[in-house]
Amino acid sequence: MVAITINGKKHEVEESKRLLLILREKGVRIPSLCFHHALVPAASCKLCVVEIKEGDKPPRTRLSCAVKVREGMEVTTESAMVHQMRNTAIGNLLKMAPHAEIIHRIGAEFGLTTGQRPDGCIRCRLCVRVCSDIIGAKALSMVKREGMMFVTPSEAGDCIGCGTCANICPTGAIRTEDKENVRTILIRDEVIGRHPLERCDICGRYFATTRFLEHVKAREATHPEEKEPHRHCPTCAKLYSSRMHRITAPKLSKTYGGKPDA
Ligand code: SF4
Ligand code: FES
Repeated sequence: MVAITINGKKHEVEESKRLLLILREKGVRIPSLCFHHALVPAASCKLCVVEIKEGDKPPRTRLSCAVKVREGMEVTTESAMVHQMRNTAIGNLLKMAPHAEIIHRIGAEFGLTTGQRPDGCIRCRLCVRVCSDIIGAKALSMVKREGMMFVTPSEAGDCIGCGTCANICPTGAIRTEDKENVRTILIRDEVIGRHPLERCDICGRYFATTRFLEHVKAREATHPEEKEPHRHCPTCAKLYSSRMHRITAPKLSKTYGGKPDA
């Protein structure tokens, strides 16, 4: 056994044991990602950094997973230098794995700078613009949170569940989930809208939300030249319209002065 000091408190500890393990045994919070007790330390994540003072020498920062305890060590786990080095370490880890939940969790737990969590959105505003300018629902808006703009469900808007935002999004940051007869539209984990789905009149498959079909009907009402409204899914609508084309093509050709098809 050897005597060491951890954050000013004396401890009798097993000689030559890894300092990281000793710190954990003593209940000292210390971040680490690359250490496994069954393997020789690689000391690559650099999160387990601490300050160690031995004898008359000035304190040095060391990686606690790589250090074996020795008599008289004075260990400090929280200092300005340690904090700065942990911040650098977490910044480097985030460059390699920006979506890794564990890194953000460690950052939050130890007060380290992790920046905004990437959410897959490139802030092109295609979703916001299409919803406002083409669909007319104004269900999305950009909102500033902690110095950065985010697409969020708009308070004044009214999502109709058409899914156009998800279809136009170039990165897949917005997605739709159709489960049974309900469509959910999400960005990050935030629900933009949740809507009941209607079945196709031909094949019976759920294909569009009630709100969307009502929206189309209301729009068509202002265009009397539009064809009679139908409730066909895209596949059936395509089959139906090519069948109709075959039936009406001779008539149309005649109308426009051409020869009827054979
Ligand atoms: S969610 Fe998609 S479409 Fe909307 S701003 Fe972000 S990347 Fe662009
Ligand atoms: S645990 Fe990763 S460097 Fe020590």
